[in-house]
Amino acid sequence: MRQEPSNHPLMRVRVATRRQEATDIASFELVAESGGPLPAFAAGAHIDVHVRDGLVRQYSLCNDPAETHRYLIAVLHEPASRGGSKAMHASVQAGDVLTIGEPRNHFPLAAGDRHLLLAGGIGVTPILCMAQRLATTGAAFEMHVCTRSADRTAFRERIAQSSFAAQVRFHHDDGPASQKLDIPGRLARPQAGEHLYVCGPKGFMDAVLSAARASGWPETQLHYEFFAGQTVQSGGDQPFELELARTGRVVCVREDQTALQALLDAGVEIESSCEQGVCGTCATRVLAGVPDHKDLYFTQEEQAANDQFTPCCSRARTARLVLDL
Ligand code: FES
Repeated sequence: MRQEPSNHPLMRVRVATRRQEATDIASFELVAESGGPLPAFAAGAHIDVHVRDGLVRQYSLCNDPAETHRYLIAVLHEPASRGGSKAMHASVQAGDVLTIGEPRNHFPLAAGDRHLLLAGGIGVTPILCMAQRLATTGAAFEMHVCTRSADRTAFRERIAQSSFAAQVRFHHDDGPASQKLDIPGRLARPQAGEHLYVCGPKGFMDAVLSAARASGWPETQLHYEFFAGQTVQSGGDQPFELELARTGRVVCVREDQTALQALLDAGVEIESSCEQGVCGTCATRVLAGVPDHKDLYFTQEEQAANDQFTPCCSRARTARLVLDL
């Protein structure tokens, strides 16, 4: 079971360089404000970037995890975003100082004989970091990068010049049919010891994960990370109650507010970040009642256990949830 630290250390970093990596994708190289090394990270890790007052977004680290002098993130400019990517693109420049959280990892590499890395669009960021690590350790892997077009493919040059270039295939929506990735075909025969990692837009991830499950891949060999902005919203929400087990207090959640808002309004301290069910920061233990999970953070198995939920977006299937608060 994944649990977030209640106090996540923050630090200040300087933007050493900003670079246009592809159409609508910029990378930001972050170094310690005071110089010196940064806390280590493992492939698949992300950082919280405090973009501006109250706005925190998660970005995967995409540089070599052996590096300690910098963190590299890449941000897709999404006009429809809730502000994070817009603010990063519009206002963050080389020389600026940002507050970030220390790296956290919900998407680590597994111990296995072989690794299949599938990236869709900006989902290349953690996948590239994984490829770098697997290449360093000499592990067997192949990587597929699926994007709308070559000009929208971040780090194409870096990958082409890497030591593992021969293990990577690019697939573009606007290219000939022959170069498109046959997802069901590639996933048709799961092997013991082979691990699948996928990150990208929700449609891409759903296609990959449903094809893998249809072919009988065990859940223990499937690894995935959704990113912010993809939470499925549903209408028709109903009010419910939260009972705080430590005091017996009951907090009502109206149909037009989230459980997180209700708890904060009631003066209950809950750490949160993405508020979209992606990062897991608000994960709270459930002692009784059945949550209506709407997050993209917990695995299917973790959701089915019904012993924790994300109050920023999830609701309740029962009239009351009893929380370990
Ligand atoms: Fe990110 Fe709730 S704040 S999952």
